[in-house]
Amino acid sequence: MRIVALASGSGSNLQAVMDAAASGTLDVEIVAVGSDTPDAGALARAAAAGIETFVVDFARFDDRAAWNHALTVKTASYAPDYVLSSGFMRIAGPEFIAAFEGRYLNTHPALLPAFPGAHGVRDALRYGVKVAGCTVHVADAGVDTGPILAQAAVPVLDTDTEQTLHERIKVQERNLLLVVLGELAAGKAPEDYAPRR
Ligand code: GRF
Repeated sequence: MRIVALASGSGSNLQAVMDAAASGTLDVEIVAVGSDTPDAGALARAAAAGIETFVVDFARFDDRAAWNHALTVKTASYAPDYVLSSGFMRIAGPEFIAAFEGRYLNTHPALLPAFPGAHGVRDALRYGVKVAGCTVHVADAGVDTGPILAQAAVPVLDTDTEQTLHERIKVQERNLLLVVLGELAAGKAPEDYAPRR
């Protein structure tokens, strides 16, 4: 199962996937890691693991549609079975979504559909939830919307800050991601996660 991963940040979740793939516990091949910014720590992690990297730098494009087109073409050139957003902080546009429809996966550090967006952990904490968590889902054109594949709950502690809660969520996020990717690699389809009711 060929995966192109997209990331904007440190890439600690992606590291867990790369490690599992390298050790053979996860039957996937990360064929490339791409970013919207040359500063993403995920790029350095990928390079250190010997994985090809690319940047489609958002700052260098005049408009969002042109950037989205370039991202679509570059990603498609690796012929991935799935594209994984692992902390990719830009919303992919309609062209990208259409090109990888049903095959673009995202992880989010909240129990969707609650607390979508770039600050899911902060928003959940400020709301006062007692149980936070994470979601792996098929991404569509919305902000953290699309069919949910798996979720895990993380209790909120009275002493939590956004950072401490996010770190505990990420531990579960990595586990969940590895489970889902393992199931997809074993032949489960995204549709199999969503029983008709
Ligand atoms: C993850 O919690 C992801 O869901 C969110 O940003 C975090 C990425 O962390 N969008 P890292 O770059 O994998 O460390």
